Amino acid sequence: MGVAGGIAAYKAVEVVRGLTESGHDVTVVPTAAALRFVGSATWEALSGKAVHHTVWDQTHLVAHVRLGQQADLVVVVPATADLLARATHGVAGDLLMNILLTARCPILLAPAMHTEMWVHAATQRNVSDLRGRGVVVLEPAAGRLTGTDSGAGRLPEPRQILEAIGDLLRRSPSNDLAGRSIVVSAGGTREPLDPVRFIGNNSSGRQGVELARTAVSRGASVTLVAANLDVDPPAGVTLVRVSTAAELHAAMVARSNAADVLVMAAAVADFRPDTRAGSKIKKESGEATLRIDLVQTVDVLADLVRTRVGARPIIVGFAAETATNGDELLSVARGKLARKGCDLLIVNDVGRAEVFGAVDNEVLVLGSDGSMTELSRRSKAAVADGVWDAVARLFAGRLAVDE
Ligand code: CTP
Repeated sequence: MGVAGGIAAYKAVEVVRGLTESGHDVTVVPTAAALRFVGSATWEALSGKAVHHTVWDQTHLVAHVRLGQQADLVVVVPATADLLARATHGVAGDLLMNILLTARCPILLAPAMHTEMWVHAATQRNVSDLRGRGVVVLEPAAGRLTGTDSGAGRLPEPRQILEAIGDLLRRSPSNDLAGRSIVVSAGGTREPLDPVRFIGNNSSGRQGVELARTAVSRGASVTLVAANLDVDPPAGVTLVRVSTAAELHAAMVARSNAADVLVMAAAVADFRPDTRAGSKIKKESGEATLRIDLVQTVDVLADLVRTRVGARPIIVGFAAETATNGDELLSVARGKLARKGCDLLIVNDVGRAEVFGAVDNEVLVLGSDGSMTELSRRSKAAVADGVWDAVARLFAGRLAVDE
């Protein structure tokens, strides 16, 4: 576990503690700057190991190569703007940066910095490059920063970092979707009323984008059918931009035959205006109301299920539900799974918790075989991994049947 020089280094103490208490063998490698925030004595006491930060200590052990090569996971908490920049460019000035270059295992970076530094084009570019190379860069949390200001840039909570670490360590092998062709729809459709207005929805596209990104990092070849995303699409996907339900439908159908997995994470309009006015709708004097006739759109998910031949591709749907309790949620969701006929249904309780635009999510994964997996509150990236784990289990089951 690397620690870079930021005030959030004190929170890394809790992460090391959580890891050692759950039986992991942790070597802490702070940068020189990190040691100005939390000293070696703390790291040594918690990890039970000597702490080094330069490549010039214990040179006979060639630690700068060995540590990276032997680790199961390299985590950096906090990852400062400076560390992200150096990691992006492969700068290897100290022991931690050497480890990042020699590591062949998954790498997880938990950023913490001031909002201005996080949103700066240089940092965003670095993050996107790192993610494109398969490095897991957690989204920082929003909230109170050092001093009196607040905004995006807070270190994710140690609990969330520990969960993400658990997910990465559980993911085995990490290339389990290699050779699979996956199409993910994400975002929210917009149905035009006139040249300037549309009927849309609150979907940010974050969960679908995380699904696409994690599928890339697990080796799949991924097409992202993106409808009006609030977030940047990940690197490493084939991007198809759409806007309306009809465009999304056409894009999915065109790719369904060649796909191994189709995921309908997009929030697709159920209705669209019957007509699109050719010019801007004007307020007529004296008219207090405007009537708009809506017509149903195609149910893309149901159509993909209806037109598939045999059991390929695997089809995954999402369900946004409001229920008063867990039993009601489950029965409504089971009904929807049966109606849609897909293989997996990822169920969001949108009444209970904040989902739209949030970084975290909490879902049930229901299988048409009667299976149910609960993914408790975690990052949308970790939820995405849980979904791919379920897909990987379906592939494994089919393989077993084929044999
Ligand atoms: N979906 C779709 N086409 C639509 C509407 C929804 O493909 N026209 C997909 C969504 O992408 C999602 C799933 O259907 O994977 C369920 O979406 P949801 O809004 O929960 O359900 P609806 O089918 O719209 O049913 P209802 O709103 O009546 O609950």
